[in-house]
Amino acid sequence: MTAEDRSALEQLIFSKEFLRTEDPGRKTQDIVFDLRTLKAVFESMKKFDIDYLDYPIMSGKESIVFKAYSKKKPIVVKIFKMSTLRFSNLYMYVQGDRRFEHEKKDRSRIVYLWARKEYVNLKTARECHINVPMPIGFHQNIIVMQYLGTRASPAPELRKSTIDMANAFSQVRESMRLLYTKAELVHADLSEYNMLIYRGKVYMIDFGQSVSIEHPSATIFLERDVKNVCNFFNKKEIKCNVNDLLSFVTGEVE
Ligand SMILES: Nc1ncnc2c1ncn2[C@@H]1O[C@H](COP(=O)(O)OP(=O)(O)OP(=O)(O)O)[C@@H](O)[C@H]1O
Ligand SMILES: [Mg+2]
Repeated sequence: MTAEDRSALEQLIFSKEFLRTEDPGRKTQDIVFDLRTLKAVFESMKKFDIDYLDYPIMSGKESIVFKAYSKKKPIVVKIFKMSTLRFSNLYMYVQGDRRFEHEKKDRSRIVYLWARKEYVNLKTARECHINVPMPIGFHQNIIVMQYLGTRASPAPELRKSTIDMANAFSQVRESMRLLYTKAELVHADLSEYNMLIYRGKVYMIDFGQSVSIEHPSATIFLERDVKNVCNFFNKKEIKCNVNDLLSFVTGEVE
């Protein structure tokens, strides 16, 4: 192990993810990185020329998102937690998506596939001119992408932003329509949590679970996305009708 690897290891060990918490209710969240993941982190650092991991922007049950630096520029490193990603959940989004159907799907492979799937989905969305973070690469259960935010802080989620909501809504519906009609994808976890406001634009994030529009459950996922979006904007006093938005997104009406 080189000195650089050691310092990365130290960063991880001393990041709050590795420390025992005083709160007994959080016990299961204590240890999140198995050795395989640590190894994958070091390999990614080499592969993507990452200088160091700065700090965790967000740590959830299924992934941890780090701000990191590569060639002095901020980037994002998202690590899917091998231990807590629920296999049966993932399976539902992979099975039935022709792009990934023929892959072997044992536990670790499906998590790796998850990272690759998020990468591919982001790439497709970008190619269709949808505002999403530019994907940089993937390695095992890790995906590296463009950092959205300022030097001081990451871009706020839509729910916490001060953007004009009528403006945000018109951007969201256009992006949803492009995603469906051009990228031929359904996000499948779209909500005010998975949209960030960066330089006045709404960016969709979190594409691991996104499926092709041919997936047998695509319509159910799309309806759920549309409902989430309408619920949020209705609360913000922006009129959003589920059926209208559905027909707009699928390209049935102009
Ligand atoms: N590219 C990015 N730039 C800045 N902040 C980001 C970026 N990607 C993610 N984040 C922050 O990290 C949070 C979690 O990211 P994301 O939604 O991708 O993971 P998650 O909710 O844990 O997803 P999953 O369900 O796939 O585990 C976001 O809500 C956002 O605040
Ligand atoms: Mg999310």
